[in-house]
Amino acid sequence: MKTVLSGIRSTGHLHLGNYFGALRNFTQLQHQAKCYFFIADLHSLTTHPKPDDFHSNVRIILSEYLASGLDPEKSTLFVQSSVPEVSELFVLLNMLTYKGELERTASFKDKVRQNPQNVNAGLLTYPVLMAADILVHRADWVPVGKDQEQHLEITRLLARRFNKIYNTPVFPEPEAYNFGGNLVKIPGLDGTGKMGKSEGNGIYLVDDEKTITKKVMRAVTDSGPQTPGSPMSQEIVNLFTILSVVSDPQTTAYFKDQYNNCTIRYGDLKKQLAADICKHTLPIKERIEEIYHDDTYLKYVIEKGTAEARASAQATMQLVREAVGFKAF
Ligand code: TYM
Repeated sequence: MKTVLSGIRSTGHLHLGNYFGALRNFTQLQHQAKCYFFIADLHSLTTHPKPDDFHSNVRIILSEYLASGLDPEKSTLFVQSSVPEVSELFVLLNMLTYKGELERTASFKDKVRQNPQNVNAGLLTYPVLMAADILVHRADWVPVGKDQEQHLEITRLLARRFNKIYNTPVFPEPEAYNFGGNLVKIPGLDGTGKMGKSEGNGIYLVDDEKTITKKVMRAVTDSGPQTPGSPMSQEIVNLFTILSVVSDPQTTAYFKDQYNNCTIRYGDLKKQLAADICKHTLPIKERIEEIYHDDTYLKYVIEKGTAEARASAQATMQLVREAVGFKAF
């Protein structure tokens, strides 16, 4: 049976990118594989969140996971900082990672550009901690969005390097996973890059119908196709990308035809898009509120998940410690 692992940082609410990039694939896989899903609270410390908000951020993400369909009877749900074996493996993997390899990653370069006053070592070694998350459970598949592809490459490199240096096949080489084949990148509605928590361009699972409709109706468009078959601007490609994940194929084909014969009305396209987004997210939104207030259930889920995750991580660390040469006196 395959082992699957995925995670999300505990910074803010989950948006459509998180849902369609990682969570939806995961909720389907949990019926056919051994699945681990966790909240990356250590990773979120790179941006120095306030201690007073820290726990509630984790609780929000946990409630949103569960409301999206993660089943604690099938999957193991836990918080990264409650499994200290991850931090131990992180230290060991750091010894096998070269500074230049980390400085070259696109995510590090982006963060340095966006926030030059906070280039901490945790940002540089972010992919190593991510590799520890994945390798400590010896995962085969990792459901993630396109933005995490390079981090998965580093994980694979470290798995190979560890196995080679210590001459024992402790780690499988994990693959980034998406049901549709290609990893997805959900764009923002502002016509620029990806939908993200820090970009302020997201549609969140907790948004109500009015908010979603308002955000979609405000999305940036262009002045429309001038001649049949004229190429699409990035803003319109983005709307079609989101449409293709939330709507059925006939709906997407209908609006593509309208674009190609220059009869499209972007207002109609947006109305359809907003309605189809709501079909996915509104039932989740309702469940989030119930689950968030259910202390007994959340405690049960986390206690069960933490015990399972630690047992799995401890089994791996026993092999790792033997391989590295740690011995009792
Ligand atoms: P985070 O919290 O930024 O994002 C969580 C997941 O959502 C995906 N995602 C997207 N997918 C498609 N389009 C988007 N616009 C979009 N925005 C976010 C991300 O690809 C990710 O799968 N480093 C991870 C958290 C992490 C992790 C791990 C994931 C830590 N350790 C181990 C998997 C395995 C992150 O920043 O996620």
